[in-house]
Amino acid sequence: MKQNTVVTLAAMKARGEKISQLTCYDYTTARIIDQTGINMILVGDSLGMTMQGYADTLPVTLEEMIIYGRSVARGCQQTFVVLDMPFMSYQVSPQQALENAGRMMKETGVDAVKLEGGREVCDQIRAITAAGIPVCAHIGMTPQSYHTFGGFKVQGKGEDGAARLLADAMAVQEAGAFAVVLECVPPKLAALVTKKLTIITIGIGAGAGCDGQVLVYQDMLGMNGDQIPKFVHCFAQLGQAMTEAFQDYDSQVKAGTFPTAQQTYAKSDCEDEVLARLEENVQTETVKFCSVV
Ligand code: KIV
Repeated sequence: MKQNTVVTLAAMKARGEKISQLTCYDYTTARIIDQTGINMILVGDSLGMTMQGYADTLPVTLEEMIIYGRSVARGCQQTFVVLDMPFMSYQVSPQQALENAGRMMKETGVDAVKLEGGREVCDQIRAITAAGIPVCAHIGMTPQSYHTFGGFKVQGKGEDGAARLLADAMAVQEAGAFAVVLECVPPKLAALVTKKLTIITIGIGAGAGCDGQVLVYQDMLGMNGDQIPKFVHCFAQLGQAMTEAFQDYDSQVKAGTFPTAQQTYAKSDCEDEVLARLEENVQTETVKFCSVV
């Protein structure tokens, strides 16, 4: 069993320990994250933007999520992996949600699925969890519904908005979710939700009062240029480091300074006499070869 499970994550909340989560979409990065002590990975449908270059998450398909989820799951020995259910893979009915969540678990090896919504998706959460599949809910600013919000905006504002968000949080817990993502939620409200719930809350743009935090890894590594959401801190400037490395490679290839003897198989190189014989015979040999063909 992994070091991180639904049971150990719940125990972390009970002990007041913070939970760390990052998005991840590929095997190589998953292996690196898996060795760091980070508790959870989210294979988010944000991959529509970060890996596929779409403007939003809506075009991402179930098949694509399965491919990315499987690659990440193969890289994780200890980190708990959650796979996002893409737009229209669960909204239609609890039956549709269960069938697709089942496929995602069966065909990838992830540990849980995530879906967006509050009270309106509780029947879906009940159907999936009844089949033994852990579900992480996602409320607040839910990117699959950004057309309804009129853009990516803070949710849970005002007394009504706050009451609705708290009701959604209580409802997804009651339906059986083991965790809930709170995205772009006022910090005091997120802290209150966290206090009221027994399940773990994972915040993104929701302040420090949540049980855990999640960030998109390209954002926190500084790979997105100047497009940095307010809630992101860049823990490294890999975008700059990658640009410099790519430029250096380009210059060295063009200048003939890469590869050097160190990067070639010099020990198994051809004898000079063999090369000389080859060079001498090349025309005759080529003619012989061509006539055989
Ligand atoms: O898809 C995603 O990466 C997400 C996070 C932003 C929470 O849902």
